[in-house]
Amino acid sequence: MDDTNTATRMLRDEHVLILQVAGVLDDIMSSAPDPAHLDFDAIEECIAFFRLFADACHHGKEEDLLFPELEAQGLPRDGGPIAVMLYEHQVGRAFVRAMAEAVSGARAGDEAAVDALLENGRGYVDLIRGHIDKEDNVLFNMADNLVVGSPCERLCAEYDVVCARRFEGQTVEELEGIASGLAARYPAAG
Ligand SMILES: [Fe+2]
Repeated sequence: MDDTNTATRMLRDEHVLILQVAGVLDDIMSSAPDPAHLDFDAIEECIAFFRLFADACHHGKEEDLLFPELEAQGLPRDGGPIAVMLYEHQVGRAFVRAMAEAVSGARAGDEAAVDALLENGRGYVDLIRGHIDKEDNVLFNMADNLVVGSPCERLCAEYDVVCARRFEGQTVEELEGIASGLAARYPAAG
């Protein structure tokens, strides 16, 4: 089947990048010789990618465009898979915010900040892997059946408009470059 223009094709492709960066973060956290010698520069790049690409750009398209279209097609917003996905987006935001708050203290050697960074980083990696699995295998399959024809074409055009924006000054291509740079430095991450 040619699925280049389904309601979820672009979002599924973005999931691949998000999982790649989550894998890098997992690798950084589990392979450091000790917590004081984490690769803080790479962790900051992961945080920026999660905040701007995974949340602002990707979750933004889901929350502002795909989910409202699914509601228009009859799926409830306050129950079922959409409600679960919205809740998990909020939990993910909290993990990333906590990582961002902890990273400079961790870099300075504050043990409590290192613990908070690792705890929230692991929480985020676990959450986002499960979350994307649910979207890819449940909600997005529903979306591909529900949103077809002209609503699907309109949705894809609206995705393109979001992707043409800048996120705190960075283009989507630049944010994708963060992911590929991290993957090159951590090739074993998966
Ligand atoms: Fe997603």
